[in-house]
Amino acid sequence: MLRKRIAVFASGFGSNLQAIMDFAGKEDLGGEISLVFSNKGNSLALKRARENQVKTACLDPSGFTNRVEFDRAILELLKSEKIDLVVLAGYMLLLSPVLVEYYSNRIINIHPALLPSFKGTHGMKDAFNYGVKVSGVTVHFVDSELDSGPIILQEAVNIKENDSLEDFEKRIHAVEHRIYPRAVQLFCHEKLRIEGRKVRILV
Ligand code: GAR
Repeated sequence: MLRKRIAVFASGFGSNLQAIMDFAGKEDLGGEISLVFSNKGNSLALKRARENQVKTACLDPSGFTNRVEFDRAILELLKSEKIDLVVLAGYMLLLSPVLVEYYSNRIINIHPALLPSFKGTHGMKDAFNYGVKVSGVTVHFVDSELDSGPIILQEAVNIKENDSLEDFEKRIHAVEHRIYPRAVQLFCHEKLRIEGRKVRILV
C-alpha cells in the first residue's frame, strides 16, 4: 500500500494539526503530512508546521475575485503536491464544489459537536449554550453540504453541572486530539469503506 500524501488545512491555533504530527512521530500513520495550508498567514498552525519541517502554503482569499477562483488555486496546489487526503483541522472557510468534487471522499473534517446537531462555525459553544448534557466530537467525510458527510468516528463528551465553557472546551479538545489522528490513520490504511451514509471500519 502506498503511503498517502496528506494536506492539513488550518486557519488558527492548529492543536489538531499538532496532535496529528505528534501521532505520526510515534505511530504508523500510513502517510506523510506533505503540506499544511492556511488562509491566514499569521496562524499558529503554519508556525507549528514550519517547526516540524513540514512544507507550508498560504493563500489569502481577498486576493481572488471569488471563492471558486480561490479554491481552483488551492486545487492546483494540491495536484502539484500529489495530495491524496485533505484533512480539515479548524479550517474556517467553506469549500466550494471545485474542491469537494475533485477530492470526493478524500476530504475529512473534525467538528466539535455530535453531528447532525449543532452544525456550523460555533458547534461547541452552541451545544453548551443550548444546555445539552451530552455533546461530543465528530470526524466525517466532507460533501457538498455543511457538516453533513458520512460519519467516520464520533465520541460523546458530557457537560458537567459546574462546567464553564472553558472546562468543556478542554475535554472536547482532548477527545479531538485522540480521535482525529486515529481517523487519519484509518483512512491512510484504507480501512474506511463508505456505504451510502454509513462508513464501515474494516478490521
Ligand atoms: C477544533 O475544535 C475543531 O473541531 C473546530 O475548530 C477547532 C480548531 O482547533 N472546527 C470547527 O468548528 C469546524 N466547524 P485547532 O486549530 O486548535 O485544531
